[in-house]
Amino acid sequence: MEIISVNITKGGCGKTTTVQMLGEILSRDYKKKILCIDTDPQCNLTTVSGINLMACGDRNLYTLLKGERPLNDCIVKSKYYDIVPGSLLLAYADTEFNQLGREYLLKEQIEDANYDIILIDTPPSLGLLNIMSLTASTKIIIPTECSYLAMIGLDQLSNTIESVRKHSNKGLEISGILMVKYNARANITSAVLAGLQKMSSKLHTKVFDSKIRETVKVKEAQSQQEPILDWDSSCSAVKDYIAFTMELVNVL
Ligand SMILES: Nc1ncnc2c1ncn2[C@@H]1O[C@H](COP(=O)(O)OP(=O)(O)O)[C@@H](O)[C@H]1O
Ligand SMILES: [Mg+2]
Repeated sequence: MEIISVNITKGGCGKTTTVQMLGEILSRDYKKKILCIDTDPQCNLTTVSGINLMACGDRNLYTLLKGERPLNDCIVKSKYYDIVPGSLLLAYADTEFNQLGREYLLKEQIEDANYDIILIDTPPSLGLLNIMSLTASTKIIIPTECSYLAMIGLDQLSNTIESVRKHSNKGLEISGILMVKYNARANITSAVLAGLQKMSSKLHTKVFDSKIRETVKVKEAQSQQEPILDWDSSCSAVKDYIAFTMELVNVL
């Protein structure tokens, strides 16, 4: 079972959208059994997956981490994948979960799960939820938009990855860096791409050949809480994510 977390410190870099698209495509086109986990207290992945948080009651990640219900009782189904919904209570994770070995909490709860691939969406922070996610993961994908601030986010994340490798997950691999909201014609693009290539070789990984273009269809689908594949299965971002998924599957 691969456990892949999609991670970068900066918000708005396409973490949630990348998890959503990978979940949809790996399920529809590769017939994989997928579990997504929403570790962000903002619960964006839960919402865009068409799930009403209130209706979930206490079936969510907070309950799972508290050990109050087993994994299967915290899972909700959406059209293409199963999901452990997020919870606003996760905002207090850093103070709430203070026992010894807390970085292993998520790993312990999901290691016996019966899925082909688990995808973890992470919050834009360097706190415990991120450490837990990286500790539980076999691989990490780093999405980034074409900006200088995203490169700073990547630099911060690389320190966290080093520390997780040292203390709680020696085998954590970086699958690659994915450029999202890509606009080949923008002047800054080539400078950021060059910077990312440099950083990626320092991190012993690569920038994926596939780049994700920006299209309003993504925002439309998410605002209607429809799967992006159902909203417009031939828009540019979907084509790009399909190419990216193929590239990813080849290195899994
Ligand atoms: N390829 C894309 N084209 C257009 N908008 C996008 C695309 N990818 C993400 N977005 C939008 O950008 C915003 C941030 O994306 P999101 O996936 O939520 O990032 P993060 O989880 O890193 O904060 C969201 O409003 C989302 O709808
Ligand atoms: Mg998000």
